[in-house]
Amino acid sequence: MPLAKPTALPEDVDRTTFTCGDDALDVWLRHHALDHQQDRTTNTFVIIDRPPGRRAGMGDLDTEGLGAEGLGAEGLGAGGLEIEGLEIDPAGADAARSGTVDSAGAGAGGADGGRIAGYYCLATAAVERIPGTRRRSRRPTEPVPAMFVGRLAVDLRYTGRGVGARLVRDAVMRSLTVHRMVGLPLLLAHTPHAAGAAFYHHLGFRPTRFDPYLHALPLRAAAG
Ligand SMILES: CC(C)(COP(=O)(O)OP(=O)(O)OC[C@H]1O[C@@H](n2cnc3c(N)ncnc32)[C@H](O)[C@@H]1OP(=O)(O)O)[C@@H](O)C(=O)NCCC(=O)NCCS
Repeated sequence: MPLAKPTALPEDVDRTTFTCGDDALDVWLRHHALDHQQDRTTNTFVIIDRPPGRRAGMGDLDTEGLGAEGLGAEGLGAGGLEIEGLEIDPAGADAARSGTVDSAGAGAGGADGGRIAGYYCLATAAVERIPGTRRRSRRPTEPVPAMFVGRLAVDLRYTGRGVGARLVRDAVMRSLTVHRMVGLPLLLAHTPHAAGAAFYHHLGFRPTRFDPYLHALPLRAAAG
């Protein structure tokens, strides 16, 4: 049975059993995600494995039609984004892929609202340009606005099934909507783990020069 599309974190879903192997990520989902969402500081999106016959709630957001099919390196020029000092490698911006997520064997359980297979949180951010890396640049030195995936995790019962990639793809899709509206150029992802960094790099993100824990995907490239 395919898992649901990522939706805004509903109040009725069980957050207490989520276990991804990183306590900090588990605790954040269990105890802080909903507060942040209600405060409108950070939105959390989840893939829920619901019991058969249980429909998505009213708060669920359908990401269909946001036009993220075909995310890839097309459109990413040899020079990449012209953002002074960011030094993002334009090669391999083969961002999140689509694909069916199969929950067979995972067993939907938890509370009536279903079980969270994976989550990520999305916010906005701004990064300082590093001056002096572009000769004769007349660009202003204001911070660069970005979308920001602060946390992303998949429950151990669901790893290796495409849930993580689906979450990243959803973050890209939502970020592209903002990108098309206001031109915001970057999607940033934060992870302190080498494995997390490898995961993001596998999906097309590149290291940033300004923070070893931050990885960036140029949205112009993802838009194709
Ligand atoms: C890293 C994590 C999110 C991966 O989730 P997942 O659902 O198992 O990943 P997927 O099944 O969607 O994998 C998608 C692709 O990424 C690859 N991948 C998965 N984890 C990877 C890793 N650590 N390094 C490199 N590639 C990885 C998969 O092989 C797959 O590649 P393919 O499409 O070419 O076959 C998950 O293991 C996790 O939650 N880890 C703990 C928390 C964490 O590190 N979060 C990262 C940011 S804070």
